[in-house]
Amino acid sequence: MRTLTVKSPGRVNLIGEHTDYALGYVMPAAINLYIILEGRPSTAVRLQSSALGEVAKFYPSNLVRSGDWSEYIKGIYYVLAKRGVRAGGVEGVISGNLPAGAGLGSSASLELAVLYFLNQAYSLKLSRIEMALIAKEAENEFVGVPCGILDQFSASMGRRGHAIFLDTELLKYEYVPVPSDTAIIVFFTGVKREIGRTAYVERRRVVEEGLRMLGVRTSKYLSSEVLAKLPAVHRRYLSYVVRENERVIRVRDLLKSGDVAAVGEVLVEAHEDLAVNYRVSCPELDFVVREAVRLGAYGARLTGAGFGGSAVILASKSRAESVAEGVLSRYVREFPWSPKYFIIEASDGVSIVG
Ligand code: GLA
Repeated sequence: MRTLTVKSPGRVNLIGEHTDYALGYVMPAAINLYIILEGRPSTAVRLQSSALGEVAKFYPSNLVRSGDWSEYIKGIYYVLAKRGVRAGGVEGVISGNLPAGAGLGSSASLELAVLYFLNQAYSLKLSRIEMALIAKEAENEFVGVPCGILDQFSASMGRRGHAIFLDTELLKYEYVPVPSDTAIIVFFTGVKREIGRTAYVERRRVVEEGLRMLGVRTSKYLSSEVLAKLPAVHRRYLSYVVRENERVIRVRDLLKSGDVAAVGEVLVEAHEDLAVNYRVSCPELDFVVREAVRLGAYGARLTGAGFGGSAVILASKSRAESVAEGVLSRYVREFPWSPKYFIIEASDGVSIVG
């Protein structure tokens, strides 16, 4: 069989942070930064990463945990096998321009690249939503990262020029156009903090415990009266989640009416809430948000899990470059890291390009 080239996007989350594991609302977009997999069917898996200069090598019938990036690929085979789906191997190269560890969904992008390849090469007939769910399960159960569906859904279901309003409980979604005169800037702080993982697990544990205490699955219908029954820490984190769910709906509606300036204000409000109450920000992210707004952006906030990674900035297309450059030059005077920004386009989900 001929070589297939799969292009799998990263994601930026516009609003709805730390709500997916509480089965609330999110609103991400797939972005035009990609992982590219060029491969052909084979009995074994042999994938060379051009970024790492390493090769992932194993047989689909022998999945041994190795603590490295090949686990994202093995995880896919693990979940397929669990579901009784048999797929052969793949031989080829993984490359692309999506930075790893920048909070832009690179793990999900890799998972979807591999799964989409297998789906095509071995006619597995999986739908895009099934692929998102399989990839999430691979990460939860094989890699051991307790993420929600946000990243995998974005990489699989993205649509050019649109954000995705998603109910993560029912997996009901709606595409919302990004106004054509609005730029989305992704600002990577250059910070990859390990503490983020531990804090993520901890926040998730408290939020899930709170939901259990209230006897509900989803955070979507919680009121402040109900939350008042919870112990302080559970109340604090779940109250954030409830406010954030409400902001996702507000942003969806404001974006539909084209009021990007008002969207920007909600983003800043969300960042403040994440920093003060949910406590997943850091000085670098706070700095980026403050400076972006000072330089004339509509708004900005941390995107992804927090504690480093990236911020998302909304600005008019005419100002985007000067806002991004302005933040960058001030940032490097303040912090010793190597930041990078991307003015991105909302993009299609994973696809075959050749
Ligand atoms: C990470 C996880 C997502 C989501 C975000 C926070 O990106 O992979 O599932 O929980 O953090 O919104």
